[in-house]
Amino acid sequence: MRNSTFTVPSNAPEAWAVHPFDAPLGAQVVGLDLSQPLDDDTFRQVHRAHLAHHVLVFRDTRITPAQQIAFSRRFGPLQTHVLHQFQLRGHPEILVVSNIVENGQPIGLGDAGHYWHSDLSYVDKPSLGSMLHAQELPAEGGDTLFANMHLAFDTLPAALRRAVDSLQAEHSYLCKYEELRARSPWRPPLSAEQIAQVKPQVHPVVRTHPETGRKALFVSEHFTTRIVGLPERESAELLAQLFAHSVRPEHVWRHRWQPHDMVFWDNRSVMHLAAGCPDHLRRRLNRTTIEGDAPY
Ligand code: SIN
Repeated sequence: MRNSTFTVPSNAPEAWAVHPFDAPLGAQVVGLDLSQPLDDDTFRQVHRAHLAHHVLVFRDTRITPAQQIAFSRRFGPLQTHVLHQFQLRGHPEILVVSNIVENGQPIGLGDAGHYWHSDLSYVDKPSLGSMLHAQELPAEGGDTLFANMHLAFDTLPAALRRAVDSLQAEHSYLCKYEELRARSPWRPPLSAEQIAQVKPQVHPVVRTHPETGRKALFVSEHFTTRIVGLPERESAELLAQLFAHSVRPEHVWRHRWQPHDMVFWDNRSVMHLAAGCPDHLRRRLNRTTIEGDAPY
């Protein structure tokens, strides 16, 4: 499917199409109206395209938060973010990702995703996928980068691939939290209750995608703290090597946002990074996350 463009006029409500990017991942979907529930056949085609391309960009998507939630729920139950301060009022399933400050208060998480990561890898059932819907975009910057973690695994030197295949790693929400707080005016301190909600979890370093059976590297600089059973220095060196390999340019695609884009990525197949934008330019997006399986 990577090199094909397909148009689906059949029994879909209107003609729509998936156009793969000339890149290690990703495709854009044009002409699909997500404000209405998709019929089962159209939904199956979207699901298949998501598995094949790992990141789908739905162009010109004019939907409300409730419609984003309804579409996200077709893929599974939704997860709420531990930073409840930044849930959208009336819609706790939506995390507001924004650098906007109103009346001295941030309206969203301004520095979300400033290290490479897979969403919610620090919980027992990390996110299957996330949908990020553009509300306000800066005139400059604000891109999101994605790395194909299947390719990252497949292209490891064979001996390293065998060595990491049976390892486990710890993931913690707290891994970079204080570091981010030290340089970000937006990060609130965590309450004892919030800390209790994000106890570290252990997951395989290499996970098998539950729907495609493909293996993917599953460690990230944002949340992975150590390789279980390795001395500290050896663990840190191995993780640094895996992080650097994962984001080699040939594994990465950069999304440059257009108005009304909604991007839906597969957290079991990719990592992502928010590239950031100048502080004085407003950026606001609504994110839903769909619960996945315990990695194996
Ligand atoms: C995220 O990590 O979910 C946010 C990504 C972005 O703001 O580009």
